[in-house]
Amino acid sequence: MKPCIALTKGRLEKQFLEFFQALNYNVEPLINKGRKLRVDTEDFQFVFAKGVDVTTYVEHGIADLGIVGEDVLTEFQPDVFNLLPLPFGKCRMALATEQGKQWPERKRKIASKYPNITKEYFRLKGESVDIVKLEGSVELAPILGLADGIVDIVETGTTLKENGLIVKEEFHQYSARCIANRASLKVKRELLAPVIDAFQKGLVVK
Ligand code: PRP
Repeated sequence: MKPCIALTKGRLEKQFLEFFQALNYNVEPLINKGRKLRVDTEDFQFVFAKGVDVTTYVEHGIADLGIVGEDVLTEFQPDVFNLLPLPFGKCRMALATEQGKQWPERKRKIASKYPNITKEYFRLKGESVDIVKLEGSVELAPILGLADGIVDIVETGTTLKENGLIVKEEFHQYSARCIANRASLKVKRELLAPVIDAFQKGLVVK
């Protein structure tokens, strides 16, 4: 039986593959997968999903391990074992606004893919705001007048810059994490130990 790893599609996927290859695992079938969402290598079965769905597959024990951003774990609080930090996927959570635009004193509207993180951020500041939940391209909201600002992750800062937004405050730093199904960690301990060890040491133990 091969361990099943759920991998967040997109940017994290690319960075994970570089990391995994550096650990001497064969990533060829993963690089050449085309539009396939389930791919087998010699040692693992991989499934590809959006971050929050990665946590769902791990929570339900379909996947033993998951590679997901810490931002997703903080926002959705899934019932998984938050096993290890990984050395990629580094980003910050930030409040950003349109450059040169007056920040309203009251009745602020904030757009975000992260309503819980946003709510907590403003709660700790003692400020009340209206939160508008979006699923992506959050930077559009202030430009189009849907919101006064956004709470979103910033990695390179390019998306903010190219859309005329600036960071008002950065308040969390995140990286990718390896998560695990709680039961798999016990039941499949021997099967999972080498890869967890490899992640941990940055060395292959095969
Ligand atoms: C994320 C985030 C920002 C962007 C930041 O979006 O929501 O929009 O990346 O990255 P940068 O600082 O390197 O420009 P993602 O690419 O996941 O797409 P989305 O807007 O569809 O959520």
